[in-house]
Amino acid sequence: MPSPFGLLAELTYACPLHCAYCSNPLNLADYRDELSTEDWKRVIGEARALGVLQLHLSGGEPLQRRDVVEIVRFGTDLGMYTNLITSALGLSRRRAEDLRAAGLDHVQISVQADEPASSDRIAGTASFARKAEAARLVKELGWPLTLNVVLHRQNIDRIGEILELAEQLDADRVELANTQYYGWAWRNRDALLPSRAQLERSERIVREQRERLQGMEIIHVLPDYYSDYPKACMGGWAQRQLTVAPNGDALPCPTAQSLPLPRASVREHSLAWIWRESPLFNAFRGVDWMPELCRSCVRRDEDFGGCRCQAFQMTGDASRTDPICHLSPDRGLVDEAIRAVNEDERVVVGELIPRPHPRDQR
Ligand code: SF4
Ligand code: FES
Repeated sequence: MPSPFGLLAELTYACPLHCAYCSNPLNLADYRDELSTEDWKRVIGEARALGVLQLHLSGGEPLQRRDVVEIVRFGTDLGMYTNLITSALGLSRRRAEDLRAAGLDHVQISVQADEPASSDRIAGTASFARKAEAARLVKELGWPLTLNVVLHRQNIDRIGEILELAEQLDADRVELANTQYYGWAWRNRDALLPSRAQLERSERIVREQRERLQGMEIIHVLPDYYSDYPKACMGGWAQRQLTVAPNGDALPCPTAQSLPLPRASVREHSLAWIWRESPLFNAFRGVDWMPELCRSCVRRDEDFGGCRCQAFQMTGDASRTDPICHLSPDRGLVDEAIRAVNEDERVVVGELIPRPHPRDQR
């Protein structure tokens, strides 16, 4: 049985942004009964005892929780590496100094584009100026800064300018991650999926900029729709990472709550039991669950048959081969989506629907 390495603690799904590519659950109303500070401390302590070394605090917007500083301090006191994944809205100087004093190790700020108007449009909230200000504050206080930009059809042509913004903000690391099509992003897929020509241009620009920006680490995650093989999602189901959602649901990946599997809650069980014994975490471990196509394939220990959430999203069956795989009988579903967005790359296929405020969401 492997030990988990990282815990993604989704402290709350409350969020001031309304990103059209959000992959959080659609039914946010079901997550309002959030874990208390004491619950989180117990969960983090249990995670540490299981071997977890990295604590990623995320959401929604983790800064919407009043106890975020206390939670960070608890994690750092246990010797964990703590990482705040934030929109930066709510990162005032006072809050930032408190987080610094609590031992927070790293800050990752999301930006939606390089230009204020388009960043604000994609975020559904006027936020760019505050993000840039917060990024400068992070550097001033001596943290390493990662800038995270979710790429899609509507901003990928500005990838060079996005890297220039990262340079101006003195980011140590940039994550240029193409959208993953789950949750709200699935609804917007046809408006977000880039064309092949856009992707090729973006790859060329990233190659050139890597030469120039030697001191900056640039992570570029391509959309798997254009690959022949699926990604090794999460490094394999329940192998290295676990997520705890705001309501206490423990998950092998952040979107696994969409799968028709038995739930596992930290309100009812210890994290050790959930990791080792729960039907949810054991559902896709190993190779016994795999369809024959994957079980007899030489790549089965490399990509683990791909992503369970993607298989479920596209086929309604989480135990099928990920349709991204060119050997999958369902690959036609991916090819059809690609065909539609490549017919005319100037046309945005479908309307971009910003994520509504949770209170307006059904
Ligand atoms: Fe991966 Fe399965 Fe495709 Fe083989 S058949 S490459 S294991 S998804
Ligand atoms: Fe859930 Fe890939 S996102 S298994």
